[in-house]
Amino acid sequence: MRLAVIFPAAGKSERFGERDKLSEDLGGRPLLMRTIDLFAKRDEMIFGVVAAPPDTFDQFKFRYGDGLALQGVTCVPGGRVDRWETVKNALDVIPDDCTHIAVHDAARPCTPPELISHVLRAAEHLPAVVPAMRIASTLKRVGEETEVDESDDPIAAILGDADTHKLKTSTVIETVDRTGLVEVQTPQVFHADVLRRAYAQDDLSSTDDASLIERLGDVPVHVVPGDPRNIKITTPADIPLARAILGVRGPQGRAIHKRF
Ligand code: CTP
Ligand code: MG
Repeated sequence: MRLAVIFPAAGKSERFGERDKLSEDLGGRPLLMRTIDLFAKRDEMIFGVVAAPPDTFDQFKFRYGDGLALQGVTCVPGGRVDRWETVKNALDVIPDDCTHIAVHDAARPCTPPELISHVLRAAEHLPAVVPAMRIASTLKRVGEETEVDESDDPIAAILGDADTHKLKTSTVIETVDRTGLVEVQTPQVFHADVLRRAYAQDDLSSTDDASLIERLGDVPVHVVPGDPRNIKITTPADIPLARAILGVRGPQGRAIHKRF
């Protein structure tokens, strides 16, 4: 296997709030570099590319360029809006002699090495492999979220803390049958020619890469068991969880000379 790895890292971290989630500290290393580390030392990887935010590309290169170069990883500008545009840009720089291409969210720094090994082993034999978890919870479809004002206390309103009495609610439309439903993770690994063919289609609208292979219609996508530790960092509450999974402390918990 001659593996190229694409790390989509061009998102805006909107659900994370003000900060860029990929810069968060995980045991003294930025989250993005933790994700790269998962693959950089593996024998299979012969090429790596990070697709970075196009509007702040120079800052990104200034911040991470040297560290990435040390790991043998290059960077290109990603897409402004859609993840598929990001992957497409990265695909353009992958050398022709790569036999397989993995796509792994830059925002997944906790992927267990054994999960990566498992997906790669399956991809030796199968054209498209994605890790996924069976859904354990009961699923319901709900309507628009609305705010119910719980407070009829005029004093609270005058003092400006009326917001704390606002309840956000939605109404249940239906309970969804969860039979056969899975929650998909990354890395998703493909035979290089299959992924290139998928990205040569006219309609690239998608939220993951496997769905473009599904759209080809002639290549099966295989699912292998995912791992609950393989979380995608989405909101600030995921950071302590990631630190716990990785067994590292936050900056405040480390000696002063080890904080940066
Ligand atoms: N991503 C990307 N290009 C985009 C959108 C997303 O490369 N146009 C990347 C993100 O950087 C992330 C991964 O795809 O590593 C998964 O996306 P998500 O978790 O949704 O990250 P963001 O899009 O940054 O977050 P949000 O949706 O909250 O803005
Ligand atoms: Mg997003």
